[in-house]
Amino acid sequence: AVVVGLALGGGALYLYSNAKVSTVGSTEFSRELAVPPLAKSTVKSDGTRLFELTMRAGEKEFRARHKTPTWGFSQDYLGPTLRAKRGEKVEVKVRNTLGEASTVHWHGMHLPAKMDGGPHQMVAPGATWKPKWTVDQPAATLWYHPHPHGRTEKHVQRGLAGLFLLDDKKSQALALPEKYGVDDLPVIVQDVKFDGAKFDHGHGMLRDTGFLGDRAMVNGTLDPYRTVGDELVRLRLLNASTARVYAFGFSDSREFAQIATDGGLLEKANRLDRIQLSPGERAEIVVRMKPGERTVLRSFPQDNYGGAWQKRFGGGDDTFDVLELRAAKKLRPSPELLGRLGELEVPAGKDSVRGRYFGLLTSGINRKPMAMGRIDETVTRGTAETWTVRNEDGVPHNFHVHDVQFRVLEVNGKEPPPELRGAKDTVFVPSGMTVKLAMRFDGPADPDTPYMYHCHLLYHEDLGMMGQFVVVEKGQKAGQVRAPHAHT
Ligand code: C2O
Ligand code: CU
Repeated sequence: AVVVGLALGGGALYLYSNAKVSTVGSTEFSRELAVPPLAKSTVKSDGTRLFELTMRAGEKEFRARHKTPTWGFSQDYLGPTLRAKRGEKVEVKVRNTLGEASTVHWHGMHLPAKMDGGPHQMVAPGATWKPKWTVDQPAATLWYHPHPHGRTEKHVQRGLAGLFLLDDKKSQALALPEKYGVDDLPVIVQDVKFDGAKFDHGHGMLRDTGFLGDRAMVNGTLDPYRTVGDELVRLRLLNASTARVYAFGFSDSREFAQIATDGGLLEKANRLDRIQLSPGERAEIVVRMKPGERTVLRSFPQDNYGGAWQKRFGGGDDTFDVLELRAAKKLRPSPELLGRLGELEVPAGKDSVRGRYFGLLTSGINRKPMAMGRIDETVTRGTAETWTVRNEDGVPHNFHVHDVQFRVLEVNGKEPPPELRGAKDTVFVPSGMTVKLAMRFDGPADPDTPYMYHCHLLYHEDLGMMGQFVVVEKGQKAGQVRAPHAHT
């Protein structure tokens, strides 16, 4: 049934429709899951690993006889998986052959502000941008996507997104499933909707979360299945949807082990049967398969936190069959998962030199809509801070900070649940929630080039739910932000 109603939130009147969407039980799993290719790279004489990405238009037959116009990185839809090691110098040649300016942001990456790919690093149509940096953070599942101010939702949902995997010695020494595309599978989840051959990217009836699709797609494959040949399978889950929140689990409610959050491995594997991911968040999970069996990765109704408002506004009652795993008749044995995985490199809050407060409202963070020429916060290089983030309008939001990984110290004054006790760069902050985050700003300092913090529900971000911070040396003042100019 379609329920249409009016609700008052944060002083604004919202019209909502909460027709429930479900593909559970009706999905045919008729297509083999595509795995994004690993990006080719060359190593320059100074040791820099060089990648090339071309932003381009294309078309893809997601469904037989329907050619959907798309955008992608060096392919019709989505992009190749970039992969580099800690300590490595990387450079990416980003060519924009789209008819309009865009950017490429390295979500979760610690890197100089000029290389970040936020709204100040626009790449003009026909231009090439060549960011370079040294990878200096633990092994993790990061990703990349455009970030042009006011256009991010459109650019991402046309297909511009890809994974950026980082490795390090510690992660490689662990006996984790690590054969890419075999027992280590990327799972890029997006919700989509079609209008004939074309994508329908319209928002529901004044739905203030932005776009919500009526079916789930993984790695650009609709109704996907994947045959696996190992006892343990690692899934690198990325919520690449623009607004939808998922609560992932398996159709038989089997337990799985979460081994990583956004920014890398947990201290120890966390056993659970559901994991909630809001847009931009990642989790790596390991699931055990028995010979010949099938199980479905599913998104369940969200009844852990989020409450009624999430259900009304965020599609929290919707359910999806996401991916069917089919185990071969004979499985290669996998080593047992170790208890201890790693050490967190995120601060624990004790050395924070200052606190800041961020009130999340659809109309703007701390009631200030994003302004490209205004620096909102100035932080000192080499210091740690504690940021308190509170949902102030009851609409589902999350909070993403560029350049850093943070530790969730508290959720509503309590210790965070185990699935949030790792390095994070994005955290869900639904109605009624306050989170406390600890992070360190290691620089380099650049008083003139801001990093972003924002809601990763991309419609909200585009509306102006974003702010800018600069990292400066002690005693230095924030500089002047130049109006963005496109690289030529
Ligand atoms: Cu993935 Cu500023 O975003
Ligand atoms: Cu939001």
